[in-house]
Amino acid sequence: MFTKTKIEIQPFSENLGRKIINTENTSLLDIDKEEIINLFKYYSFLLFRGFETNVDTFAKFSNSLSKDFMDYTGGVINRRIINEDGTILTVNDFKDEMKLHGEMYYINKPPQIVWFFCANPPLKDGETTVCDGRQFFNELSNSMQDLLSRKKLKFPGHLKKEDWQKKYKTNDLNVAKEICKSQGKEVQVNEDESINFKFICSAIHKSRTEKDDVFINSLLQAKKVNPKSVCFEDDSEITDEIMSELNEIAERITIEISWQKGDILMIDNTRIMHGRRAFYDDQRDIYTRMCFPAFPF
Ligand SMILES: [Fe+2]
Repeated sequence: MFTKTKIEIQPFSENLGRKIINTENTSLLDIDKEEIINLFKYYSFLLFRGFETNVDTFAKFSNSLSKDFMDYTGGVINRRIINEDGTILTVNDFKDEMKLHGEMYYINKPPQIVWFFCANPPLKDGETTVCDGRQFFNELSNSMQDLLSRKKLKFPGHLKKEDWQKKYKTNDLNVAKEICKSQGKEVQVNEDESINFKFICSAIHKSRTEKDDVFINSLLQAKKVNPKSVCFEDDSEITDEIMSELNEIAERITIEISWQKGDILMIDNTRIMHGRRAFYDDQRDIYTRMCFPAFPF
C-alpha cells in the first residue's frame, strides 16, 4: 500500500473505515489514487490526517476523485456557501446533535460520496459520527427487517413561497415544481403559492453490489426534528417502540470521529450514515461537498 509515499494506515474498526496518516511531509495530491480508491471501496470511509491542507487543497483533492458536485438545491438545512460555484458548503448553522442519516436521502438520487473538511475543530465535543448501514440492517430484529422492507417511509413537507424560492433558487413556481418532480417529490400548490410536497422512499436500500441490504435514510434525524412529520406510506404511525429499537442500534454501532484541523473525510453515502454530536463553542468550522465517484463504483 502507498509504496511510493510514506503513509501510515490505521483502522477505525476491523472491516470499516481507515485513517490515512501522513508521516513524512507527503503532499495529499501526490498519494496514489488507485490505492485510495481500493481502500475506499473496501472500507467505505477514509480520514486523511496530517497533510498540509486548506480549502483549495480540499477542492483539488475531491475534484481528483469525484465528479457531478451538487449545489444542494432542495436541501433541508441552511448552509453557508464557501466557494464560487457553490459546491463547497458549511455543514449547517446550528450546534445540536444531528442523528445518523444518509445525506439527502429525501431525494431520489442522493450523492454517492460525501466529503468533509475540518477548517477548524471545536474546542470539545462536536465529533462527527458514522455507522455502517449494512451492519445496522443486520442488527435489526427479524420483525423490524420485515416491517421496514415492506412499508415505505413518507416524508411530507410544506414550504412558504419565500422558502421554496430560496431552497430551489428560483422565483418561478413551474421551475420549482420541475425540480421537485425531478427529485422524486409529489407537489401540490396552495392558493398563497406555498407548496406541499411529499417524498416516499424505503428505509432499506440495496448495496452497490446488490448483495446486501443497507439501512440508510433520514428517518432518525427527521423524527428528532419533527416527530409528527414522518410516517409510513399508508399514514400509519412510526411508533416510539420502533424508534427506540432504531436509536438503540444507532448508538451501539456509532463510531466517533474527533476532528483535527485540516482533516479530510471521504464517506460512501450508499452505505455509511453520518451525524454529529452536539457542541457548545463558536470554533467548529466544517465544510462539505456532495458528489459522485469519478471511478467505477
Ligand atoms: Fe449530513
